Formats: sequence, C-alpha cells, structure tokens
Amino acid sequence: MSLLEVKNLYKSFGGLQAVCDVSFNVQDGMIKALIGPNGAGKTTLFNLISGVLKPDRGEIFFNGLPIHSIPQYKIASYGIARTFQHIRLFPKMTSLENIMIGRHTHTKAGFISCMLSLPFTWKEEKLVREKSMELMKFLGVSELASIDALSLSYGQQRIVELARALACEPKLLLLDEPAAGLNMRETREMGEFISKIREMGITVLLVEHDMSLVMKISDEVLVLSYGQKIAEDNPLSIQKNKEVIRVYLGE
Ligand SMILES: Nc1ncnc2c1ncn2[C@@H]1O[C@H](COP(=O)(O)OP(=O)(O)O)[C@@H](O)[C@H]1O
Ligand SMILES: [Mg+2]
Repeated sequence: MSLLEVKNLYKSFGGLQAVCDVSFNVQDGMIKALIGPNGAGKTTLFNLISGVLKPDRGEIFFNGLPIHSIPQYKIASYGIARTFQHIRLFPKMTSLENIMIGRHTHTKAGFISCMLSLPFTWKEEKLVREKSMELMKFLGVSELASIDALSLSYGQQRIVELARALACEPKLLLLDEPAAGLNMRETREMGEFISKIREMGITVLLVEHDMSLVMKISDEVLVLSYGQKIAEDNPLSIQKNKEVIRVYLGE
C-alpha cells in the first residue's frame, strides 16, 4: 500500500487553476521529488496535503485514511510534517526552543498550550528537551542549541527548520525547496541529511529546484506544469523526457 495517495486533486484561486486533476502515490520509504517551473502548483499541492488548504475536488489518503477534509492539526498528528519555502522560525527563540516547538505536537500538552506558555509537566519538558538535543546531534548542529534563530546563518536556519519538522516524528516529511538559498557545500550537506532521514524510515516528498540534488537523491520524480502532472518516472527517464525538457527550456 502507498503511504500517500493523491487522487484527482483540484484547487483554484479565483479564475486560476493552481492544481488540476493531479494524481500520484508515494510508496513507504521513498524519496519522491516534485519539480516544475515557478507557479506550477507545487507549494499549493503541499498546502493541500498538509491541510493548510482544502481541495475543491479530489481525495488524499494517508496510510489508507482520508485526510482531505480533516483539520490541519489532526493531519500533523497522523504523522505528516513539513518545512516551508520561506523559513518560518521564531527569531527570538533559540534553535533548541524552535525545535522543541515541533516536538510539542507529540506531547499531551500540545502545541497550542506550548505557544500560550500554559503549564505542562516538568517530565514532559525534560523529555522534549532531550529528544530535541538528540536531533541536533544527529544533524551535527549541537553547537547551535543556545543561539537565537535570528543570529543563525541562512543555511543553519534551514537545518534548524528541518530538525523542527523531524521533532514531530513524522512518517511523511514534506520539504519545500530545502536547498533554496544554500551554497554548493550546504546543498550537498542538505542532500546527505535528506538521505539520512530516509534511512531513519521517514518517507520524503520534496519540492526542489536544484536538479543535481533532485536527480541524486530521488527514487521518483513528478513533474508539474500549470497545475497539471506532465510526467512521473525515475530520475534518469525524467531527464530524457521530451515534454519535460520542453517545459524547462520554454520557461
Ligand atoms: N493563496 C493564493 N491565492 C491566490 N493565488 C495563489 C495562492 N497560492 C498560490 N497561488 C497561485 O497559484 C499558482 C501556483 O502557485 P504555487 O503553488 O505557489 O506554485 P509553485 O510552488 O509551483 O511555484 C501561482 O500562479 C500562484 O500565484
Ligand atoms: Mg513554491
């Protein structure tokens, strides 16, 4: 069974058809990339899967359960986490605190009470702190723990955002342009992190413009253009696909 099944999904904004009859599956344990020119509907598709937006038509199943009409927080609790195209860290909180917020989707006290600083048990807090430190260690950025997000380099912010998404212990991780704004070395490291994440048993759906990164780490690539799926194949075949080449060269 597929971990994620997207069936005949539609979403329009006014007269603009941002996602048009898109269907695809993501098998458990794979890295699947979603590519396409700017405005193709990639982020909209992520917003639909994570519940930020509701589809006009179509269905989304996660682990066989329908998720297209349930609230966003519930989808997160089922095990779908994401990062954003434009980094969204809390600037005045430390890296560790930013990551701990991700973890709170898993505690009884939960994200909302955490944001409102409502009391939750000391034991829970300690466990969340330990788990978050473990994640920083795993990603090789322990030394950033006490630094305010505001003072981090762009590349470091991307890693902290990734750690925060991982702190939810997702089964499926949606990454929206994780290498955007990164230099060559940072991009290569990001690729290594993503491969490691898959080795942890987390399935990854990735939007990315850096084609060498996409081709290196993905098992399958889905190509969108003007909201429609134009190709879905392994990386090698995608690179040779005439329609895909036309869409990219015609940009
Ligand atoms: N909230 C919104 N309101 C109106 N139009 C939107 C909204 N979100 C996205 N769009 C439009 O939908 C199209 C797809 O956008 P998006 O999904 O962000 O593309 P991509 O991530 O592939 O670059 C674009 O034309 C964009 O302007
Ligand atoms: Mg986008």
